[in-house]
Amino acid sequence: MPDVKVIVRPDGPLQILGPILVENLDGSPIDVVGDPKGIFLCRCGRSTQKPFCDGSHKRSGWKESTSQETA
Ligand code: FES
Repeated sequence: MPDVKVIVRPDGPLQILGPILVENLDGSPIDVVGDPKGIFLCRCGRSTQKPFCDGSHKRSGWKESTSQETA
């Protein structure tokens, strides 16, 4: 069983469970507070707290494209 699990949330963020390090563009670490629910990384591009999800995907009604829709 891997130490890190990444879950693609439907029409939402990536949920990361397990010990990870998140770095800024300059390589400096971003404090990620341990939370049993993990951390959530934005997939929609609308978050004001990137790379983290701030719930903007719900407010905007963002829907993910499926590979069948984009093919
Ligand atoms: S996925 Fe939640 S704000 Fe982008």
